[in-house]
Amino acid sequence: MLITFEGIDGCGKSTQAALLAERLRKEHIEVLLLREPGGTELSEQVRSILLNKEFTRPLAAEAELLLFAASRAQLVHDVILPALSRMDIVILDRFTDSTVAYQGFGRGIPLSHISHINALAASELEPDLTFLLDIPLELALKRRKDTKNDRIESESEIFYAHVLQGYMYQANLHSDRINVINGEDSIEEIHNNIWRLVEYERGNDIFNAHHVE
Ligand code: ADP
Ligand code: TYD
Repeated sequence: MLITFEGIDGCGKSTQAALLAERLRKEHIEVLLLREPGGTELSEQVRSILLNKEFTRPLAAEAELLLFAASRAQLVHDVILPALSRMDIVILDRFTDSTVAYQGFGRGIPLSHISHINALAASELEPDLTFLLDIPLELALKRRKDTKNDRIESESEIFYAHVLQGYMYQANLHSDRINVINGEDSIEEIHNNIWRLVEYERGNDIFNAHHVE
């Protein structure tokens, strides 16, 4: 099963992805937790290019899209597909929905291009379950104030308003898999909400497996 966490920077994804992995491991379920971009030698190098603020000329939106795609393609090929064939659950901190939100809505690249490139980079893989942590931009900025902003985090409020719009667009389009979670709740409340939904999905999975037999 592939579970993804999505939302704007500072929404609390990484915290929740780690808590879910920990809880599943306590139940003796094999879990792999990964973040994008990253997770392979190439993907980590691409990550450092993507988040570097020192470019003398801005990175072209198309170049940015293709770099995220290159990082993803390598991770899917080397790590995610093999892991899904031997593990119970792979958890990803960001995946293809980030590309639609940031490069599609944030940068304005046509969604038809994004969708082709996402499908290619992800080998047509789609998440079974996605948690979109929804928080207002002001709160995300407040939560991030202690860390130094990387290249994308230094973008304008208008950019982030578009990214948020992009996430809501996808939540409507893929309401079967995307669960919008109120990210303003406490860490524990959010974790419990997520845990309930994961348990429900796992129940369906087991039921479907028996049905097929
Ligand atoms: P993201 O991965 O989405 O950028 P993080 O999980 O790293 O976000 O969280 C950003 C900051 O906000 C961290 O300092 C984290 O401890 C804090 N945080 C996360 N979730 C909550 C929450 N529900 N309430 C208050 N603070 C939170
Ligand atoms: P990261 O430090 O991992 O941010 P966070 O902890 O908020 O997830 O940086 C990843 C950045 O890359 C983040 O600003 C979102 C952006 N991003 C895209 O623009 N497109 C993508 O396809 C992905 C995966 C990430």
